[in-house]
Amino acid sequence: MFILPKKVTIIEVGPRDGLQNEKRQVDTDDKLAFIDRLQQAGIDEMELTSFVSPKWVPQMSDAKEIVTQTTKVGRQFVLAPNEKGAQLALEAGAKSIAVFVGVSDSFNQKNINRPTKDAVLALEPVIKNMKLQNIFVRACISTAFYCPYEGKINSKDVQSLCADFVSMGVDELSVADTVGRANPLECYELFMLLKDTFSDVLLTAHFHDTRKMALANIFASLQAGIDRFDTSAGGLGGCPFAPGATGNVATEDVVHMLDTLGIQTGVDVKKVCEAIDLIAPHVSRPIDSGMYRLYKNGQL
Ligand code: HMG
Ligand code: MG
Repeated sequence: MFILPKKVTIIEVGPRDGLQNEKRQVDTDDKLAFIDRLQQAGIDEMELTSFVSPKWVPQMSDAKEIVTQTTKVGRQFVLAPNEKGAQLALEAGAKSIAVFVGVSDSFNQKNINRPTKDAVLALEPVIKNMKLQNIFVRACISTAFYCPYEGKINSKDVQSLCADFVSMGVDELSVADTVGRANPLECYELFMLLKDTFSDVLLTAHFHDTRKMALANIFASLQAGIDRFDTSAGGLGGCPFAPGATGNVATEDVVHMLDTLGIQTGVDVKKVCEAIDLIAPHVSRPIDSGMYRLYKNGQL
């Protein structure tokens, strides 16, 4: 007998993970319209943008405008890799900040220009300072299953990195299959372990869908008690420093699956598709999610 939660929280990452890898700059107004429409679709938690180096990720260079011009409904995250990013995010008025570090040194070296240990040490005072200011802090744990450079990751290393962040006072761990290579059994086992170890923080799963395993992985994670999932409208997404990975699992496909399982999300699939209509002309990748295809064929 499957044990399923009655409710699941969808954290929409399309405006951040979905757009960060787009080569052609998407206009700020188009991003804002996308965000607004996603909120109208029932999305309460969203990653809006990142305060990262514009030299490294030019697509996120309008982070300040995005934060200051977004109506603050629900929990709206911005990413910050370091003290400077956190400072800029706070100055812009962000109330929920996501730091991000991978488990593997090689990925961190490519993504944030430092190995894991250095990144964690540097973030400790930043996180403590944010907690003193009552900021909601999520820690995104990349390469929790596989690293594009080092291969399979040991779950003890994931547990240890999570423990570092929990001891600094983070509110949430978002644990990622950055390259989309995990299988359902690996997801079940890792999330059972993390649920067991970290009962006092929110635990979220973040799946890229490179091998079309993400829905199966979400079902397995539900079994392990996970009830928060990062998803991206249209399946957009990908980290510029994780070669070979494609987008995140599509919000509309996840919500549809949960709807059919009788699990509430508060998100309207058709309205998510309407939000995708706004951003689709501005992105290079075709949208090929199952539910968006049905919507375009008038079958929703
Ligand atoms: P660095 O070059 O080592 O930085 O980059 P630095 O500290 O040596 O500073 C160099 C320059 O950058 C200085 O400016 C700093 O002021 C500036 P200069 O003096 O040369 O004029 N700088 C900044 N500017 C704006 N915002 C900042 C910032 N920090 C320094 N925050 C750094 C290190 C971390 C900045 C860089 O590597 C970087 O920005 N990396 C971001 C990479 C990124 O955004 N990756 C995608 C997000 S993670 C992801 O997608 C994974 C996730 O989805 C989960 C999953 O799927 O796994 C979350
Ligand atoms: Mg990601």
